[in-house]
Amino acid sequence: MNRLYLKFPTLEDKEKVLDFKNEFILSGQKMAGVGGLDRYDSFEEWLTKITNDLKEETCKEGKVPATLYLSCRISDDKLIGIVKVKHRLNKHLLDYGGNIGDCIRPSEQGKGYGTEQIALSLEKCRELKMDRVLITCFKRNIASARTIQKNNGILENEVIDNGELKQRYWIEL
Ligand SMILES: CC(C)(COP(=O)(O)OP(=O)(O)OC[C@H]1O[C@@H](n2cnc3c(N)ncnc32)[C@H](O)[C@@H]1OP(=O)(O)O)[C@@H](O)C(=O)NCCC(=O)NCCS
Repeated sequence: MNRLYLKFPTLEDKEKVLDFKNEFILSGQKMAGVGGLDRYDSFEEWLTKITNDLKEETCKEGKVPATLYLSCRISDDKLIGIVKVKHRLNKHLLDYGGNIGDCIRPSEQGKGYGTEQIALSLEKCRELKMDRVLITCFKRNIASARTIQKNNGILENEVIDNGELKQRYWIEL
């Protein structure tokens, strides 16, 4: 643990973020918790979007405010993962989406970073005065389920989302 730190992206992170995105595209894996980075062609537009996501007054109608963080490695500042903390739950998030979405770049998966990234984002949840956090994942996503379990996630139930079994875990803060 203690290999990563979280930061909100700035214009200076453009190259790192585009390189991260490219690695995911080349791997064929789908990113998660990236605030739509996969849908935006322009880094600047994506940065504006995630900045608007921060506040109730500026986030998209029907959405809740959220903060996106880059997880960078302390030793060399490499961008390792991206995680998004949704500040509260609406009905859809309570049923399916949860408070946290996350991913680790393919070449750095399986090294414990996913587990650490969630631990760091739980600290951000504490700062937001949340007393418990919901994290969900598809049951077939064993790696994601393990990262949640290793952060003391307690399985509440399994629901069907888009025809697939999804697990809902609560973490008490
Ligand atoms: C899910 C994800 C964030 C996990 O990150 P990670 O850095 O690989 O996770 P960790 O290295 O902390 O591994 C956590 C556990 O998962 C296990 N694991 C990792 N990859 C695995 C795999 N492909 N199959 C089975 N288990 C796996 C690890 O062995 C570890 O368990 P253990 O400690 O019991 O051995 C990463 O795989 C990812 O970005 N996936 C794509 C996006 C995604 O699915 N995000 C989650 C959306 S809900």
